[in-house]
Amino acid sequence: MGGSDEHIESMMHERRHFPPPRHGSERAHIPGPEAYDDLRDQAARDPEGFWAERAKALLDWDSEWDTVLEADWETPEFKWFAGGKLNACANCLDRHVASGRGEKTALIWQGEPEDDVRQFTYAELRDEVVKFAKVLKKWGVGKGDRVAVYLPMIPELPIAMLACARIGAVHSVVFAGFSAHSLQNRIQDCEAKVLITADAVIRAGKQIPLKTNGDEALEACPSVEHCIVVNRAGLDVAMHEGRDVWWHDAVAGDDGTDCPPESMDAEDLLFILYTSGSTGKPKGVVHTTGGYLTYTAQTTQWVFDIQEDDVYWCTADIGWITGHSYILYGPLALGATTVMFEGVPSYPQPDRFWQVVEKFKVTIFYTAPTVIRALMREGPQWTETRDLSSLRLLGSVGEPINPEAWMWYHDHVGKGELPVLDTWWQTETGGIMISAVPYATTLKPGSASQPLPGIEADIVDRDGEPVGPNRGGHLVVKTPWPGMLRNVYGDPARYKSTYFERFPGMYESGDSARMDEEGYFWIMGRLDDVINVSGHRLGTAEIESALVAHEAVAEAAVVGMPHEVKGQAIYAYVTLKSTFQENDELRKVLRQHVRTEIGAIATPEIIQFAPGLPKTRSGKIMRRILRKIAADETNAFGDTSTLADPTVIADLIDGKNLLG
Ligand code: WT7
Repeated sequence: MGGSDEHIESMMHERRHFPPPRHGSERAHIPGPEAYDDLRDQAARDPEGFWAERAKALLDWDSEWDTVLEADWETPEFKWFAGGKLNACANCLDRHVASGRGEKTALIWQGEPEDDVRQFTYAELRDEVVKFAKVLKKWGVGKGDRVAVYLPMIPELPIAMLACARIGAVHSVVFAGFSAHSLQNRIQDCEAKVLITADAVIRAGKQIPLKTNGDEALEACPSVEHCIVVNRAGLDVAMHEGRDVWWHDAVAGDDGTDCPPESMDAEDLLFILYTSGSTGKPKGVVHTTGGYLTYTAQTTQWVFDIQEDDVYWCTADIGWITGHSYILYGPLALGATTVMFEGVPSYPQPDRFWQVVEKFKVTIFYTAPTVIRALMREGPQWTETRDLSSLRLLGSVGEPINPEAWMWYHDHVGKGELPVLDTWWQTETGGIMISAVPYATTLKPGSASQPLPGIEADIVDRDGEPVGPNRGGHLVVKTPWPGMLRNVYGDPARYKSTYFERFPGMYESGDSARMDEEGYFWIMGRLDDVINVSGHRLGTAEIESALVAHEAVAEAAVVGMPHEVKGQAIYAYVTLKSTFQENDELRKVLRQHVRTEIGAIATPEIIQFAPGLPKTRSGKIMRRILRKIAADETNAFGDTSTLADPTVIADLIDGKNLLG
């Protein structure tokens, strides 16, 4: 099991309760427990009627759907609002301009350098998006074409995404921290026609070249006809004649008019986002237009209670689903003011986040436990010199937030007053599934609370039977919801086998969890070979295949190990080919190798050279044992009778001890 049981045991003894704040509830979207129960009842009684009503209330449709839901768990195939027409970009921008919010700030962008700030009203953002949409069209991008977006956290990133949405193209954003090789795989998989990238990323005061990665990736991406390059850092880059064009040249002279949004079917693809699975290459998670936008708008409204005057800031990178749903689509669909930050929490000092909160009077703040734990280590003084009085709600996502971090967040950022909303969801779910709502839920530190209205989550055993209170099991979802993934791009068989095969009639999340006697969910962690490093999902198989691709490596096994700040870190056991020497230099080379193959987030924390790995007689690596050794839990390995050679365990423990 991927999650740390001990950690959960300690959380299970967590008894503190925090009732919802009263102040602010008068105008809240869900003002209290009665309103919340009402919503849940409505959704449970008539799910289709409920979501149809929500979709109408939240979005502008060009024409209404034929059916609210078509669900076929067997194939599987799910359609929400099929036949309905809408455009996601028009819903995020044009309609707000048309309804008199054109002058409202849509996007506040804070660059890493303090003076780099750009703010866009809804009208201005619409104009920028239109300009770029026309560029895409001019370069031959049309409805259904895929566009790869490999950009740092700069305004051109959301502009490019919304421009794609406007013309019906499908964006596939690749986190700028990924390597050339990872970018290449993703472009090849979705056969993108265009790549959008930048000269460089600015991070912690340094320039990291990006365009060179793009060039390297494109060496084997025949589908890509053009590459559009943003000048972020003024870096001198090579431009390929006929293929590459600067963003600023491409949009020059355009007035931002005459590019009406394409009317899309609700089930037309909005985007593909790759995420790691337990085996093989990353999966292209497919999200479609109507259901995804309904769901992200609704959950943004319920969980963050966005009001007209809020300044909302989600610190995620748009390269991950959190940024897609909760920096961009959810908040903009609601006409909110959303903040986007290019920098990191601790540069130039550990008060940077709080300085940004103070500067823009942020009211709602959504971040990850790993950030809180990193800032906790720096001490609470950094939260004290900044004015955080504008804040009213705090959110958390990416991994379970341990009660210590929860309390620190609540006490030092929330001054002992603000609710901390722990939100459980996944790339696949499109939006938040299990979370408190701020003015209706009593909070328990360490628990993600309860499934949102319309979400029927449960904990089941290996046969799919509910396990009952306080028992660990598989976290599943038993009814369809509008934000659910619709496919794995180009691989429906994998879609079925990963999510719908094991438990017929249910969505399998891959997580384990427990539900307490009050129906609160306590997430334990992944059940598959996926590790969660700083809230980012990494497949051990991917890291292993990167390692064995190196000439020195005969075999590799990768597991997660507990890490104070990152939650989990990567621990790699590596067996070398006999002609190679085990030494620190090679360790460094291998770490660098994984970085280059996948990206910095996949860099192993520890590499242990292992002459042999614990294998069953049928040759399967017993990861359970490797996880225990990595975590220094060497007293109880459970049943080891199936091991082909039980002596490897002692050798591995010796090897670990030698590492110090
Ligand atoms: C996995 C999904 C969409 C969120 C960003 C990561 C873990 C996420 C929580 C939470 C416990 C969490 C799960 C999940 N996870 N949020 N609040 N409590 N675990 O998206 O990369 O698709 O990863 O992150 O294990 O399966 P992702």
